[in-house]
Amino acid sequence: MNETIDCIIREAIPSDAEQILKFLNETAAQTGFMTQGREGVGVSVEEEEEQLDTIYSSLNNCVFIARVDEEVVGIASIHASDKPKIEHIGEIGVVVDKGYWGFGLGTLLMEELLLWADESPMLSRLELKVQERNSRARHLYEKLGFKLEAIMEQGVKDEGQLLNVCLMSKLI
Ligand SMILES: CC(C)(COP(=O)(O)OP(=O)(O)OC[C@H]1O[C@@H](n2cnc3c(N)ncnc32)[C@H](O)[C@@H]1OP(=O)(O)O)[C@@H](O)C(=O)NCCC(=O)NCCS
Repeated sequence: MNETIDCIIREAIPSDAEQILKFLNETAAQTGFMTQGREGVGVSVEEEEEQLDTIYSSLNNCVFIARVDEEVVGIASIHASDKPKIEHIGEIGVVVDKGYWGFGLGTLLMEELLLWADESPMLSRLELKVQERNSRARHLYEKLGFKLEAIMEQGVKDEGQLLNVCLMSKLI
């Protein structure tokens, strides 16, 4: 029998700040796939609350969270600049707690982001960077229509190892 979970996906609000920071600090140490390492996020709860407040009313930034039993188990975000020449470009980030991989949460979170981006009056290009060795994430992005644009050689360093990074994009 396949295991299933009850999950709620919604936009993050300022009162989620503490749980989000805890989640990001924990998941940063679970894999070597995040740009954030064991040093942690380095943001206070108050700063995170302010950021979430600003993002909630932004037309080119968003944060979605996946919750199971009141706990944050996944986050996906679009971050864009306020500079007019590049405000149409949204950078994607997604992470799911390792204990919840394979339940489809990464796909659901990404689909929410894509729906939100489609409705945004500002965004026309989504992009992301993913380590070449991160085959699970690359599969997810390719499945949702992201195309490989370039390989950034030695684009990241993990545990002293220089690794290639894929630049992927999707026009909307
Ligand atoms: C990438 C990540 C978000 C995926 O989350 P998830 O909840 O496991 O994703 P889903 O269950 O929706 O989908 C996983 C897909 O990868 C596939 N997959 C699993 N292992 C794989 C592998 N080694 N190689 C290729 N595909 C793989 C699954 O079959 C599934 O594909 P399908 O939907 O076509 O059946 C999650 O692994 C994660 O948080 N990783 C660490 C952070 C990270 O790498 N973020 C991206 C940085 S750019």
